[in-house]
Amino acid sequence: MELLDKLNWRYAAKAMNGKAVPEDKIEHILEAARLAPTSSGLQPFEIMVIKNQELKEKIRPVAWNQSVITDCSHLLVFAAWDTYTEDRINYMFNLTNEIRGFKNEGWENYRQMLLGSYPQQDAEENYHHAAKQAYIAFSQAIIAAAFEGVDATPIEGFEAEAVDTILGLREKGLRSAVLLPLGYRKEEEEDWLVNLVKVRKPMADLVTIIN
Ligand SMILES: Cc1cc2nc3c(=O)[nH]c(=O)nc-3n(C[C@H](O)[C@H](O)[C@H](O)COP(=O)(O)O)c2cc1C
Repeated sequence: MELLDKLNWRYAAKAMNGKAVPEDKIEHILEAARLAPTSSGLQPFEIMVIKNQELKEKIRPVAWNQSVITDCSHLLVFAAWDTYTEDRINYMFNLTNEIRGFKNEGWENYRQMLLGSYPQQDAEENYHHAAKQAYIAFSQAIIAAAFEGVDATPIEGFEAEAVDTILGLREKGLRSAVLLPLGYRKEEEEDWLVNLVKVRKPMADLVTIIN
C-alpha cells in the first residue's frame, strides 16, 4: 500500500516553488531510471540533468512556456539514440561480457541477430523504438520521485528539434524524447491542479481478466 499511497500523492505539478531538491534524492531517482528494463538491455538513451538556470530559461519558450521548466530544481531530458548502430549494440554486449566475466554462446548469437537487423533498419523507426525504451526509464523516474517525496511533471509539450539544438543533442546522435522537471509543488493558487481529485478510469474499463 505504501507505494500506492505515494502514487496517489504524486500528480503532474503545474507550478513549482524553485526549492532545490537534495542531490542524494536526485541520485536515487536517476538510479531508478538506470535500473529500468529495456529491449535487449540496450538502454538506447541518455539523460541530461539540467541544473543551469540559463539553459532552463532557453528551453522554457520552446516548451509551451511551462513555468515548471524554469521553476524546477533539476530538469531531466530523456534523449533517445537517433538510430541503432553496430558500435552502440556492440558496446552493450561487450559491457555485459565484461561485467559478467564470461562469453555466452547464446548471447553472442543474439548479438549477431541484432547486428543483422537494427543497423539496417530505417533510422526514424529505430529512433521511435529507442524513444519507447526511454519512456520506461522516464516512468521509473516518476515513480522514484514520488517515493522520494519529490514532485515531477512529465512533459511532452515541447518542440523536440529546438531542444535538440539548444542542448547540441543531434551532434551526439541523440534526440530529445520527453522532459521531466523535478522540484517541489507550489501549493498556492498558482497551481490549479494541486487540490483536485485524481481522475483515472475504473479498473473494469482498464483490465480484462481472462481465466
Ligand atoms: C508522456 C506525458 C506527457 C505529458 N505532457 C505534459 C505536458 O506537457 N504538460 C503538462 O502540464 N502535463 C503533461 N502531462 C501530464 C498529464 O496530463 C497527467 O499526467 C495526467 O493528466 C494525469 O494526471 P496526474 O499525473 O496529475 O495524476 C504529461 C504526462 C505524460 C505521461
